[in-house]
Formats: sequence, C-alpha cells, structure tokens
Amino acid sequence: MHCNLCLVIVWSVLALTLCQDVPPFTEDCQHGMYKNHDRSLGVPPTFKVDLDKDPMTRWNDVMKHKGNEMKAMIGQVKNLLNNISPKLIETVEKYLPNIINKLPSPYDDEIKGIAMATGAPDADVLLFNIFYEIFTVCTSIVAQDTNGTLYHARNLDFGLFMGWDVKNHTWLITEYLRPLVVNVEFVKGGKVLYKAVNFAGYVGVLTGIKPGVLSFTLNERFNLDGGFVGMLEWILGDREGHWTSFLPRTVLESAASYDDAVSMLTKDELLAPVYYIVSGSKPGEGAVITRDRKETANVLKLNVTAGDWYVVETNYDNWSNPPFFDNRRKPAKKCLDETGQKRSQFPSIYDVLSTKPVLNKLTTYTALMRVDTGALETYIRYCSDPCYPW
Ligand SMILES: *[C@@H]1O[C@H](CO)[C@@H](O)[C@H](O)[C@H]1NC(C)=O
Ligand SMILES: *[C@@H]1O[C@H](CO)[C@@H](O)[C@H](O)[C@H]1NC(C)=O
Ligand SMILES: *[C@@H]1O[C@H](CO)[C@@H](O)[C@H](O)[C@H]1NC(C)=O
Ligand SMILES: *[C@@H]1O[C@H](CO)[C@@H](O)[C@H](O)[C@H]1NC(C)=O
Repeated sequence: MHCNLCLVIVWSVLALTLCQDVPPFTEDCQHGMYKNHDRSLGVPPTFKVDLDKDPMTRWNDVMKHKGNEMKAMIGQVKNLLNNISPKLIETVEKYLPNIINKLPSPYDDEIKGIAMATGAPDADVLLFNIFYEIFTVCTSIVAQDTNGTLYHARNLDFGLFMGWDVKNHTWLITEYLRPLVVNVEFVKGGKVLYKAVNFAGYVGVLTGIKPGVLSFTLNERFNLDGGFVGMLEWILGDREGHWTSFLPRTVLESAASYDDAVSMLTKDELLAPVYYIVSGSKPGEGAVITRDRKETANVLKLNVTAGDWYVVETNYDNWSNPPFFDNRRKPAKKCLDETGQKRSQFPSIYDVLSTKPVLNKLTTYTALMRVDTGALETYIRYCSDPCYPW
C-alpha cells in the first residue's frame, strides 16, 4: 500500500523547517553547461575490479585510495544515528555482524574484504551498504535522437534527511559522499565486462553500462512497503528476495541482450519496490520498469511513433502526479521538450540535468551513457545557491 499521506506529512514538516531560508527555486532550462563544467573539479577516478579475483580482495585497490573517505562517511552516519538514539547504534553493532552471512555470494565476501582492507568493522560496512537501499532520490532519462541513437543519463541525489546544515545550506552526508564517487570497470577474462558509477565501499550497482548490450539506472520508489521496511524485515529474517541493487549486478554480468535484461529485472523477487530504468543500443530499446516487491507494476516504453522519444523517471509512478513539494519530473520534461528530439545528445541532456530543481542540493553526480559506443561520462555536481534542498 502506498503511503502518500505519510510522505506528505514528512515532506511538509521538512519543507517548513528547512525552507524558511531557502525558498523553492526553479529556473529556466539551462544551456551550455556541459562545455562549461569544470572537469578538473569534478571527474571521479576510475578503478578496475577483477571478477576473476577472490571477492575478499577484489576491492582492495579502490579501498586503498578511498578507505579513509569511506570511514569518514560511516562516522558521520553513525553520529547522526547516535543523535537520534544511542541505543540504535548499539543494536545495529550487535545485530549486523550476524547478518552478513545471510548475504548472497559474492557480496558477503566483498563486504568482509572491504572491512578488512580498511580496518572498519564488518557491521559498519554492511550498514553503509544498507543505506543506499533506502535514501536514494534521483532523476533518470532515456532519450532517442532522430537518428535512432539512445542516450541514458541520470542525476544521483543522495543524503535526504541526513543532517541539513542551516548555515552552509548543504546536506552533511551529501558532502561526505562526493569524494567517494568512483568509476568502476568490472573485468572478467581480462576484459571490461561492464562499468558502473559507485560510492567506494558500496558493492551494489545504481548506475551501470554493459557496452553494446544495455545500460541501467536504479531510482528509489517510496512506499510504505519500501526500502526501509524491506531491509528491516530482511535483517529480522522475515523476508526473501534480491537486494534491489544486487540484482542489477547479476544482470550486467549475465544479460546477453536488452530484452534479456528487461526480462530479468521484471521477473525476480525483490526486497523492496524500485524503479529500474534500462536502455539498449537499438531504436525503441528504452524503458522504465516500475517494480513492486514480487511483481512488476508497469513497464513504460519508448515509442517514437507515438511521440514518446524519451522516458523520464524521478521517484514517482508515471500514472500519478508527483507531489507539489517534489516535482522534478515537470521541469525535466519541459527542458527535454524545449531541446527537442533532433538536438538530443550528451550536451543537451546534461543541460536538462543541470536545471534546478532537477539539479539540487542532494545531487552528487551526473552520469551520461551511450550503449552503442559504450561511453560512460561521470561528473561530480554541486548546486550553488539559490538552490532547492531536493
Ligand atoms: C545524425 O546523423 C548525421 C549523419 O551521420 C549526423 O551528421 C548528425 O549529427 C546526427 N544527428 C544527431 C542528432 O546525432
Ligand atoms: C561550512 O562552510 C565553511 C566555509 O566553506 C566551512 O569552513 C565549514 O567547515 C562548513 N561547515 C560544515 C559543517 O560543513
Ligand atoms: C504510464 O504507463 C502506462 C503503461 O506504459 C501508460 O499506459 C500510461 O499512459 C502512463 N501514464 C502516464 C500518465 O504517462
Ligand atoms: C506505439 O504507439 C502506437 C500508437 O499509439 C501503437 O499503435 C503501438 O502499438 C505502440 N508500440 C509499442 C511498441 O508500444
């Protein structure tokens, strides 16, 4: 069951407390942002993760460079939780180590390996991984240009509810996350099998591309039966299903075609509802899959003959209106319409994702993907004031 009312209440309280000094801010569609992006500030490093290596050590190179940043981030999360309830942290630390062995392979060993490489407790790294199943707010777009080329892009917004800094107009956790953004090339048999944009220390995939085959993004779907409850029930041993961000790794590893990927993402049982946005390399291969835990609620497809040359997904079902306090869909569509199908390419889509509030204080990165060429470009993002908190 949907909990639109709870959502409205939570958001309204937040809006009232947060936005007294930050008025809602929307702006005209941006232009020329792609060219102007300061690449020296905002391109994350690329690491290789070899799937033929032992899961316990395959993340070592990433953690050698990003381990301290990951621990700083976990420290902040624990601080925030501690402010809510010291008992909570105590319980987490007691419970979680026993839970790791419930994780499917190879994720259990990967998480243990990351803990070992950084000296962080297993429970902390697991907590860090659980977090992304819960607090991700995003915008994803698949667009087909007049030549039939497909572009898949996303903003990843993360850190909602996580410590608003009234003075600096920033979200504490979002600030700690930006240095963790890395491009990962997953290697098998000595070749790059697929690529992903990750937060170092996180073993699932929220943004990924398998060159020539598919690209993929995941957006949170808020729901009473959603990420938080799903994870809690899983921890308590009451619930079966795939983690929403582990299934995509399986898909990227094993799907031989776009249709294969859609079929896998549509059928398998999940721990929580979610949106999977998928693109292929051929005209028409673009879809938003709206998932309930057990079933697929809806598949929204590109249909250029019907005039639908793009699909946009934020964090709401396509058949209902986004709430007034969080409408990123409308500005995204407006800017895509203004751009037009003919001019639809990386620069123009980057502009759409640079328009406030599609770009907001939670935005950590923008990723641009193109399956036919295998291109993946990632840019770290900041949103200068005035800018909406989400
Ligand atoms: C479409 O293809 C033509 C010829 O290959 C090229 O000149 C043009 O830039 C392409 N248009 C887009 C929108 O990619
Ligand atoms: C707020 O911004 C100032 C100046 O940029 C910085 O020195 C300070 O550490 C920031 N505070 C927090 C809590 O991030
Ligand atoms: C949502 O998607 C369904 C199935 O693709 C479609 O029939 C419906 O018209 C869409 N609703 C809106 C408001 O776009
Ligand atoms: C695309 O839209 C047209 C016209 O609305 C419809 O006849 C056709 O079945 C649609 N194609 C797909 C693949 O949904």
